[in-house]
Amino acid sequence: MARKAVVPAAGLGTRFLPVTKAVPKEMLPILDRPCIEYVLAEAVEAGFTDIVLVTSRGKSAMEDYFDRSPALEATLEAAGKSALLGEVRRVARLATIVTVRQQEQKGLGHAVLAAAAAIGDEPFAVLLGDDIIDARVPAIGQLARVHAETGGAVVALLDVPRADTRKYGICAGEMESPNRMRVHAMVEKPAPEVAPSTLSIVGRYILPGEIFEILRNTPPGAGGEIQLTDALAVLAARGEVRGVLFEGRRFDTGNPLGLLEATLHEALRRPEYAEGARALIARYA
Ligand code: UTP
Repeated sequence: MARKAVVPAAGLGTRFLPVTKAVPKEMLPILDRPCIEYVLAEAVEAGFTDIVLVTSRGKSAMEDYFDRSPALEATLEAAGKSALLGEVRRVARLATIVTVRQQEQKGLGHAVLAAAAAIGDEPFAVLLGDDIIDARVPAIGQLARVHAETGGAVVALLDVPRADTRKYGICAGEMESPNRMRVHAMVEKPAPEVAPSTLSIVGRYILPGEIFEILRNTPPGAGGEIQLTDALAVLAARGEVRGVLFEGRRFDTGNPLGLLEATLHEALRRPEYAEGARALIARYA
C-alpha cells in the first residue's frame, strides 16, 4: 500500500507572472490558506502523511509555512489569541515533510525523479502543487483504491470539452467500468479532430517505484522537458496504467482565473465566508 506522496512544486509558474517572480504560485492564497495547504490536506486525509515536497530556488516560503514558528507562537500565546495559535500550530503538524530541490526546471518528470532517493522502490502518490480537487472522498484516495486492486500506475482523468483537447494530455484505451479506463496510450495535446477521447490526465497519480528507472531513461520531450507522460506511456504500452474518472471538482490554480474560481468555490463552501461571498458576487454580477 502506497504511503508516501510526492508534491512537485518547483515550477517557474510563468502563467502567473509577474507575481511569481517573488512569490511561489503554490503560496498564493485561497482565502486564508495557501494553495499548497489544500493539496497537502488532501494527501493527509487519504492517509499519505509522509510528504516529499519538491521545491526550488526562491520557493523556501513553503518550507517556512509548514515549519514551527516559536516567536509567533509565543506572541500569540502571550496575547491570549488561542484560536490563532491553534491554527498556526495545526499547519506545522499537518504532515511529516521532507523537501528536495529540483535544481533546474526540466519538467514534471524531472521533478518527480528528484524525489527518487526519498521514496525508494515502493509505490507512491503524486499530487501537483497547483491542482486543487474538492471531493467528498479525497481524489488521491479514489486512485489509491483502484491501485490496491490493479497495481501498476493510476492516473486521474477529467472529461474535457472536445474543443479543448489541445490543452491536455489525452488518453486512449478501453473503459473497464463507467469510471475506469485501461489506458493503452497517451497523446500530448491532440487537435480535437484526432483526439482518441476527451479524457485528459490531471494532477493526481499513483506510480510504481519502477517509474524512476523509466524516467532516468526518458529523453527530453515536448518543450525540451522530461515529461512524466512520456514515462507513463512506457507502462501504458504494457497495459499497466489505469485512468480513474474521479468524483470531485478540480481547479487549476496555476493561472489567475483558475485561482479566482477556486477562491469563489471555497468561499461559498466555508460557512464563515459563504454569506459575504454571495453578497459580493451579487454586487459584481
Ligand atoms: P506546470 O506546468 O503547471 O508548472 O506544472 P509551471 O511550469 O510552474 O507553470 P507554467 O506553465 O510555467 O505557468 C505542474 C506542476 O509541476 C511542477 C509545478 O510546480 C506544478 O506544481 N513542476 C513543473 C516542477 O516541480 N518542476 C518542473 O520543472 C515543472
